Amino acid sequence: MPIFDRLGAPAPTTIIIFGASGDLAFRKLVPAFYSLASAGLLPEKYFIIGAARSEMDDESFREHLRQGVDRFGRVRGGDDDDWGEFARHILYHRLVYDDVGGYHELARKCEKIERENDLGSNRLFYLATPPTLYESIVEELGNAGLCQSGEGYTRIVVEKPFGRDLESAHNLNCALHKVFNEDQIYRIDHYLGKETVQNIMVFRFANAIFEPIWNRHYIDHVQISVLESVGVGRRAGYYDQAGVMRDMFQNHLLQLLSLSAMEPPTAWDATLLRDEKVKVLRAVRSPTGEALHTNTVRAQYRSLDGHGPSYLKEDGVAADSQTATYAALELYIDNWRWQGVPFYLRSGKSMAKKLTEVVIRFKEVPHMLFNLRHDASVTPNQLSFCLQPEEGFDLGFQTKIPGAGMRTRSVDMSYQFESTYGHKALPEAYERLLLDAMLGDASLFARADEIEQSWRIIDNIVGGWQSGDGPVMSYYEPGSWGPAAAEAMLAATGRDWTANCLSDDDVEKVTKEDGAEATN
Ligand code: BG6
Repeated sequence: MPIFDRLGAPAPTTIIIFGASGDLAFRKLVPAFYSLASAGLLPEKYFIIGAARSEMDDESFREHLRQGVDRFGRVRGGDDDDWGEFARHILYHRLVYDDVGGYHELARKCEKIERENDLGSNRLFYLATPPTLYESIVEELGNAGLCQSGEGYTRIVVEKPFGRDLESAHNLNCALHKVFNEDQIYRIDHYLGKETVQNIMVFRFANAIFEPIWNRHYIDHVQISVLESVGVGRRAGYYDQAGVMRDMFQNHLLQLLSLSAMEPPTAWDATLLRDEKVKVLRAVRSPTGEALHTNTVRAQYRSLDGHGPSYLKEDGVAADSQTATYAALELYIDNWRWQGVPFYLRSGKSMAKKLTEVVIRFKEVPHMLFNLRHDASVTPNQLSFCLQPEEGFDLGFQTKIPGAGMRTRSVDMSYQFESTYGHKALPEAYERLLLDAMLGDASLFARADEIEQSWRIIDNIVGGWQSGDGPVMSYYEPGSWGPAAAEAMLAATGRDWTANCLSDDDVEKVTKEDGAEATN
């Protein structure tokens, strides 16, 4: 079954990746281009120019990239012919980022390639460097005239993090807008390239049965969990400056929230879709004052017996760091649809399992006919969008237990994409997003106002924490389900966190193995 059933291939394009010797190009971008090439989804004519500071030539650059494709590609490097055919489209350009001359040289190189290969003048830039370089690269692109490529399009993809707060994000938007129009800018959030994330929209707006009940009358609350079993690893230097709020909430979790909560756009159109997402983000009430204490939790992983990893002992982390590696929030959306419905968001590193899910918990039935034992209750319906570890959906509902009486039991109606499309068949997020950027469809990319609205929410919370006006730092055992404070936040309202997209065995095993003791 074709996974990318797209109309039309992208027009001939020169793709220029800044930061091409780095990890992102190695693990994600080039493997994604290779998968697209293998599926015949790249333009008939294209070149990929990698620009970076490292000393390399075309050959050594290609060889380096081949290793990345072999290790991380959904489609591996294949035989020499397959790889050779792809690799002949790849060139390297050594660029010292503050050397103006280097950009002029790059401009001449692009023109030469375009001319000699009858490529036309479409250019797609990709900023995959450290974010501190973004503004100067963009300025130099403007100065060197690299953005004026004649008849063709010029677009720029900007990798996250997009700023570190509202002010810096706004400044970066201004710097980009001096050189590019908004419709040329593609701010990437790889979560939007995940199939199940897009499926939240299809599920809601291509099925008539859910939308009528998608509101405060029928939904008790929504849970969004993005848990990772890995720690901060080699990225501690970056992470200690960012923390979980900037690294995960500002982008991935708020994207999941806005897609789950937005009003239906009138058409599948980048402007209309993003208008709706911005409206939801605008309506998110930031917890302040007392709510900052009761509705937010911040925590770090810390091994109690000293045998496991502790955040403060990671290389590159300040010994007295107050950076949260875990956070949980109870947010409210001030509009008609969602008034009074809590949205619980949590994310953390070094957790028991990798788990990404959005769970819609419906309300209990208004009146229970069946004679349950007086201490029993029925589990309300829940709809789970499972992003990781497996992509799929799960609808929990009540059924009768066979035999005498009318006893009920929760069962699941589950759908796994793998069962229809096969193992490893779903495209990687970057494949979809790179293809969309070449096709000029910005629907799955963040707009300037969307980014700024999400920073407004995050800044209020992080700012509150930093000024000492919030909960104290909690701690959790690495490999556990998080701090007790997060459990307590939900328990205070009679709710608990779910892990619906994991098997019961998985949850039980971890809980037994580590005792899942919280340590705050
Ligand atoms: C990135 C964060 O954006 O997303 C990482 O910077 C995180 O810290 C990663 O590990 C998670 O992505 P995924 O697709 O593995 O859930």
